Amino acid sequence: MWSKRRVACMRVMTASLTTFVSVLCLGAVATSKHGFATERSAEPSEDTLAMPAVLKNISRVPGTVEVNLVAAPARLALLPGHVTSSYAYNGTVPGPTLDVHEGDHVIIHFRNGLPEPTTIHWHGLHIPAVMDGSPLHPIGPGKRYDYVFTIPRGTAGTYWYHPHPDVRTGFQMAMGLFGAIIVRDANDPLSKSLPDKLLVLSDNRFRPDGSPDIADPSSPQGEIDQENGREGNVLFVNGQVAPVINIRSGETQRWRIVNVSAARIYRLAIPGQMMLHVGDDGGLFEHPREVSEFLLANSERVELLIRGTSSPGSRTSLRTLSYDRYDPHTRPPDWDTAHDLLSLRYLQSPPLAPIALPAVMRRVRALDTTRVTARRVLVLSQGLINNRTMNMSRVDIRSRLGATEIWEIQNVVTMDHPFHLHGFQFQILDRDGVPEPYRSWKDVVNVRKHQTVRVIVRFDDFPGKWMFHCHILDHEDHGMMGILEVRPPLARSRL
Ligand code: C2O
Ligand code: CU
Ligand code: CU
Repeated sequence: MWSKRRVACMRVMTASLTTFVSVLCLGAVATSKHGFATERSAEPSEDTLAMPAVLKNISRVPGTVEVNLVAAPARLALLPGHVTSSYAYNGTVPGPTLDVHEGDHVIIHFRNGLPEPTTIHWHGLHIPAVMDGSPLHPIGPGKRYDYVFTIPRGTAGTYWYHPHPDVRTGFQMAMGLFGAIIVRDANDPLSKSLPDKLLVLSDNRFRPDGSPDIADPSSPQGEIDQENGREGNVLFVNGQVAPVINIRSGETQRWRIVNVSAARIYRLAIPGQMMLHVGDDGGLFEHPREVSEFLLANSERVELLIRGTSSPGSRTSLRTLSYDRYDPHTRPPDWDTAHDLLSLRYLQSPPLAPIALPAVMRRVRALDTTRVTARRVLVLSQGLINNRTMNMSRVDIRSRLGATEIWEIQNVVTMDHPFHLHGFQFQILDRDGVPEPYRSWKDVVNVRKHQTVRVIVRFDDFPGKWMFHCHILDHEDHGMMGILEVRPPLARSRL
């Protein structure tokens, strides 16, 4: 049944590459009502949403995760039905998930099979600077590098990995290079029996042959992409268009969502039901928060509990609502259209009894504002941070290991810039002076047009040079990035 519908979807997609095909596909699914009537007898309880493969651990040593990872050109159907040249990690898009536990010793044998330099950046992980895969540590074509690090305690959460070479991040990701990381806590406070689903949200734009359409920078579209960031018109969850997740009435599922899109910000909702927001970039909160929608900016992650609050046989969707992140001059004409990302289908089975959730999931201790040794202002304007573009041989901010700082990030222009810091998780203090209503660990914060956000961060454990940048990939590649150098404490550097 589903495969036939997928074929129908593909035809729609090829016929209308310039429109939002995921919506058209969902429309096609929703109108084939007779199909559902016959399905009821043999109800398929399998999701059509497939989880990315998990990287295979080749170590037998307990507490060690050793994997092989290759970035290489591949012949793949990024757009279903069109096999074209792409880039892939271990041959799949998304790449395989790195699934580890707190405390694990991780060894990644990486080989760059691409015809150009690359790196792998372990976005959000707190690991040594030489393992961070920043543009300062490129890996040439044909070269190998072992990324070796330990997953710190207390960092269970959802992260992701992607290339981070100088000026080519947007290109390499558009070609298919991205994958998720799940860090687990052996004593996870949420029941281990909850179905745990990973949703990697990406978008892409294609040429008629199905290859990624990456506009020439000097073309009108290329200029718009440099300003807005490159948005695609085909929306994917785990590389699939309009997949289905099944749920039973009363059931609770844990969803981990990662936004790997170059520029698209998702305003996510499930019409007809509330969601429990339980975690952010750096893992779980103290208490679940009931929300009807939330924003997921570029590179952000979120953990949700989805409860089956509707009746058996009903259906809804995970939808991205309209959100105006754009400069008024380059705002796309369809910016205020909502798009379905996947459908959520309630099985006919009788309702399950809802499970009890812990009132406190874990402690998230506030960083101590009385220990702040520096307050810095970072001004984001179009393509610039503090009026400068990235220079790989310049240090923009110098600090010391162990220092606690407050960074005030001011967006002085008319479009949103999602600000990301490598290596260290921070806490958001306030946005435009309004205290953040809950405490969480973050490594990216969307700074809205003309907004000021204050974050507090402590530079623990790892000296070295760390990037901070706008995570709209076109902005990052054009230099909306700077370097923080964390130096060892004075006493030690005198030796
Ligand atoms: Cu995911 Cu430097 O970023
Ligand atoms: Cu990062
Ligand atoms: Cu930006």
